[in-house]
Amino acid sequence: MDMKTVLKLWSVVALAGALTACGQKAPKAREGECCKDSQKTECCQKHEGKHCQEGQDCCKKASQKPACCKEGKGDASCKKGEGDASCQAHKAMCPSAAFDQIVATRRSVRSYDGTKTITKEQVCEVLAAAQEAPSWINYEPTKYYVAMSPDKIAAVKEAVGRNKDRLDGVSALIVSTFERSKSGFVDGVQRDPIGDIWGGHDCGLSTAFLILKARAMGFDTLIMGGRDADALRATFSIPENETVMAVIALGYRKDEPQRPPRRPFDEVVKFF
Ligand SMILES: Cc1cc2nc3c(=O)[nH]c(=O)nc-3n(C[C@H](O)[C@H](O)[C@H](O)COP(=O)(O)O)c2cc1C
Repeated sequence: MDMKTVLKLWSVVALAGALTACGQKAPKAREGECCKDSQKTECCQKHEGKHCQEGQDCCKKASQKPACCKEGKGDASCKKGEGDASCQAHKAMCPSAAFDQIVATRRSVRSYDGTKTITKEQVCEVLAAAQEAPSWINYEPTKYYVAMSPDKIAAVKEAVGRNKDRLDGVSALIVSTFERSKSGFVDGVQRDPIGDIWGGHDCGLSTAFLILKARAMGFDTLIMGGRDADALRATFSIPENETVMAVIALGYRKDEPQRPPRRPFDEVVKFF
């Protein structure tokens, strides 16, 4: 079995597991039992004032419907049932399982489908989620510089070395920076031995929100640490008090990316 088939199978099993995990079985109704107590259930709404048949699956809580794609609400990519396969899977799942699916399907994507584009409004939605990330005393030291115009995209591509070849078809290239002497500092005075490392921490945390929100909307990302910070600073007139961190590509995957293996769990997690 090749790796692609293994990954496909794995997604199906994960999805099935997720559905089982959240798909609480509705109790079987007893004659006349279903609609009493005027509970706000799908069944009660449908059968208002009527009795259910013995053994009918009933009284399923309306809240068990997936929150995200209900009645066309939720993420833009899920509206009206549109979107890619991951969105359709998302639609079929309860919210907590949807999160697991987002984590499981997020990958560093190195080939993009240029026939699909992400709008500025959608990029704003992704960045608004990034801004919701926690930060040191809520300083929010992270800044984003977004290239969406062809000339700026071309300029950023020139600043990411060999990564350039991985970026055909991207909709946006986002440069992340953080303001120094913010996180880890109070009134400009360093309050923690690691100082500005907290700024890098907060920037990474915000980026984590960004890439997961992007995946939730059916998009893909690549974080690139391989970049020419000086060239990017010049392109976007980034002030000297900001440290340039990464370039984040945003687009739609062209091919199914493979999951690189992770270290054994107990090598990175210790319980005491
Ligand atoms: C800070 C950081 C810098 C990275 N820089 C690059 C890069 O310059 N080029 C690249 O192709 N991938 C880059 N990556 C992606 C990693 O190689 C990738 O996250 C890792 O192999 C795990 O794969 P996954 O993201 O698909 O789980 C970077 C990731 C991070 C978090």
